[in-house]
Amino acid sequence: MAVIAVYSVKGGVGKTTIAANLAWQSAVVGEKRTLLWDLDPSGGAAFLFGVEPRAKKKGAAAIFRGKEDAEEMIQPSGYWGLDLLPADDSLRGLEHSLLALGKKKRLAKLAGELSGKYERIILDCPPVLNEISAQVIRAADVVIVPLPPSPLSQRALQAIRKELAANHKQHPPILPVLSMFDARRGLHKQLRTGMPDWPVIPMSSAIEQVAERQAPLGSFAPTSPGAAAFAELWQAIEAKLEDLGAG
Ligand SMILES: Nc1ncnc2c1ncn2[C@@H]1O[C@H](COP(=O)(O)OP(=O)(O)OP(=O)(O)O)[C@@H](O)[C@H]1O
Ligand SMILES: [Mg+2]
Repeated sequence: MAVIAVYSVKGGVGKTTIAANLAWQSAVVGEKRTLLWDLDPSGGAAFLFGVEPRAKKKGAAAIFRGKEDAEEMIQPSGYWGLDLLPADDSLRGLEHSLLALGKKKRLAKLAGELSGKYERIILDCPPVLNEISAQVIRAADVVIVPLPPSPLSQRALQAIRKELAANHKQHPPILPVLSMFDARRGLHKQLRTGMPDWPVIPMSSAIEQVAERQAPLGSFAPTSPGAAAFAELWQAIEAKLEDLGAG
């Protein structure tokens, strides 16, 4: 089993869109039993599949306190091999719960407990730099960081690298991804020359439609450039996992 986190300190950079489409790619194309686990209380990941969280009294954060069973909160996505662990409002208290628990590897442990059922767990993360992101980094085999082409994104990447170096003796590799890339824009093209090896996700109306249709891109526009980009990104991740001997 391998854990793939889609993470950035910045909001609105395409994390949820990438996590959802990678999860579909992993399950439907890669034929790997996959769980998409949404850690962001705003709850976009399951929404992209038209799935609502189960009305459990204690909520998704209770899993971390051992008060709720992850498997009971997991729902089918409607696609082969792909399940969802939706977020809900209870996750707003997750950082507090994790700090109170004092178990630094709680997320890693919970993910490990699901390894009999899933070959890939994809974490959709909130844009925070706190105990939640620290747990994500301890749980992940690889961290995907979407960065729209802007000098501010470079700063976000530096902040993440700095945090990893300062607070994690051992940490998973970071795979930066140029997200929302528009080849017609001069600045985008210019910034891309500085990072020629990074996988690219184009800015496209087809990708925007994922949220409107509540369906992964590959399911309704399999020949679109966006779908090809998600497929390529997935291959890059799988290659990385193989290099690491993970999963
Ligand atoms: N490649 C793309 N092309 C066009 N629109 C995109 C692309 N990626 C994401 N979007 C749109 O941009 C918005 C933000 O994307 P998304 O929710 O995936 O970002 P996020 O990083 O998860 O945000 P948050 O930090 O709020 O969770 C959404 O409306 C989404 O549909
Ligand atoms: Mg999101």
